[in-house]
Amino acid sequence: MEIIHVSAECYPVAKAGGLGDVVGALPKYQVKLGHIAKVIMPMYRTKFLYTNEWELVHEGGQNLGPHWFHYSIIKEKTNKLGFDLFLVDINGLLDREKIYGYNDDTERFTSFQIAVVDWISKWSHKPDIVHVHDHQAGLIPFMMKHCFVFNHLADIPTVLTIHNAQYQGQMGWDKSYYLPSWDRWKWGGLDWNNSINPLASAVKCAWKVTTVSWSYLDELKYMSAGLENLFEYEKGKCVGILNGIDNEVWDPSKDPLLKQTYSKLTVDIGKQANKKELCDRFGLDIEKPLIVFIGRLVGEKAADLLPDAISSSIYQHHGNCCFLILGSGETAVEGELADMNNRFSGYINTYIGYSEPLSHLMYAGADFLLMPSRVEPCGLNQMYALRYGTVPIVRNTGGLRDTVTDFGDWQGFGIRFDNASVWDITYSVGRAIDLYTNKKELWDWMRGYMMDIDHSWDSAAQEYIDVYTSLK
Ligand code: ADP
Ligand code: GLC
Repeated sequence: MEIIHVSAECYPVAKAGGLGDVVGALPKYQVKLGHIAKVIMPMYRTKFLYTNEWELVHEGGQNLGPHWFHYSIIKEKTNKLGFDLFLVDINGLLDREKIYGYNDDTERFTSFQIAVVDWISKWSHKPDIVHVHDHQAGLIPFMMKHCFVFNHLADIPTVLTIHNAQYQGQMGWDKSYYLPSWDRWKWGGLDWNNSINPLASAVKCAWKVTTVSWSYLDELKYMSAGLENLFEYEKGKCVGILNGIDNEVWDPSKDPLLKQTYSKLTVDIGKQANKKELCDRFGLDIEKPLIVFIGRLVGEKAADLLPDAISSSIYQHHGNCCFLILGSGETAVEGELADMNNRFSGYINTYIGYSEPLSHLMYAGADFLLMPSRVEPCGLNQMYALRYGTVPIVRNTGGLRDTVTDFGDWQGFGIRFDNASVWDITYSVGRAIDLYTNKKELWDWMRGYMMDIDHSWDSAAQEYIDVYTSLK
C-alpha cells in the first residue's frame, strides 16, 4: 500500500511537540510492515535541511486567491528516516525558521496544502491513502473532493488523525477564495459556526477519523473547543488508536544523549548517574526525589498551576523533594518559574527553552515525571518516562488515563489524580515522596514492570493499516 502522510511536523526535521514524534515514527514502522509510506511537509529553514542531501522532484505553480505562487518539492536522497521524505518550498511563506506562530499562518498552511494536492494531482498513478494530520493539513480532504481541478482525486481514501482538537485553524469566510475553484453547493464541508474551520472540515470530509487515544475520542464529544456536536454526529467514522513510541530513539540502553545508559537490570545505577548529572548541573539535592516537568508551558498542560503547586509542595512536604522544569510557552508562567529559581534555590530549577538532549537526560535521571494536563489527547512524555523507569504522576485524562494506572490499584505503576488543581498535585507529590522514601520494594517492582511495557509502534502501525484496508 502507498500511504502519503501530510503534516506540519516530523522529527527530526522539525518538531514542536508530539505530532513531530508521531509523524517521524509511524511511517517508518509502516515501511517495516512492507508498505510504502511517504511524508510531505513544509520546507522550514531548520538544521536538518542544511545538513542533508536533497534532490528536486517537482516544480509547480498555483493560486492562493488572486496571488500566484511558485512551489518546489525536494526529496531527501538517502532514505535517512526510513521512509521517503518530501519538503515543499514556497518562497515568502514557508522559508522561515519556526513552524508556527506567524501572523500569516493561515496563508502559509493553506498554500502548503494547495501545493501538496496539486503535486499529487500531477502523478501518473494514484496513492492508496492520503493521511492528513491535524488542522494544518485539514483542508486536503475537502479539496480532493470538491475543487474542480482536483476532481480526479476524489476516489482516493483520506484519513484524518486528530492529535489535538484545541487548535482548529479557523479563518473567516472572506478567505474562501483562497482555495482553487470549488463546488459552492458544498460550502457546508468547510463551515463550522460561520467560519471556515479546517479541522471540522476534515472531520466532515475525510473517509475516516482517528484520535490518538481511546479516552480522548470519548472526551471530544463533550470537550472539544466547540466541535462537541460534530464529534457526536460523526462518531460512526471515528476510531481511537493509541500512539506508540519510537523504541529505537527512546531506548535507555542505547540512548547517546544520556550520561550513562542502562537496562532494567542496571536501572538503579544508571538512573543515579543521570540524576547526578542533572543535580550537579542544576544545583539540586541528589538525595531527594527529583520530580520533573517537560513540555509546553500552556494552559492545556496546566503549566499555570506549576508555580503554586511547587511552592505548596515544598512547604507542605518540608522541602523533601526537588523539581526541574524544561519548557517554554506563556511568558507569565516562564517569569514566575524563573523567579522561583532564586526564591527556592536548591529545591527547584527551570530551563526555559527547547532542548532535546536535556529532555532525554531528564527522562533518565528523574524519579518522577509530572503531567497535570487539563487536556492530553495522548501524551508521549509519560510513555518515554515508563520506558526509562521514571514513575509518571498524571491527571486522569485522555491518553494519560489509557496508559498509566495508579499504584494503589492492582498492578498499578504510576500516580494518578483527578483534578487539575494545586491541591491534587500537592497531594500526589506527597504520595510520590512516601513511595520514594518508605516503599522501596514496591518502587523497585514498579520500575521493572513499567520498563517492560511495550508501547512500541509495531501494533499501532498495523492498526492504521487495518483502517486503510477497510476503506479500499
Ligand atoms: P504535545 O505534543 O502536546 O506537546 P506530547 O506529550 O505528545 O505533548 O509530546 C511532547 C514532545 O515534545 C515530547 O517528545 C517531549 O519530550 C517534547 N518536548 C516538549 N517540550 C520540550 C522542550 N522544552 N524541550 C525538549 N523537548 C520537549
Ligand atoms: C498532540 C497532543 C499530545 C499527543 C501528540 C501526538 O500534540 O497534545 O497529547 O501525544 O499530539 O499525537
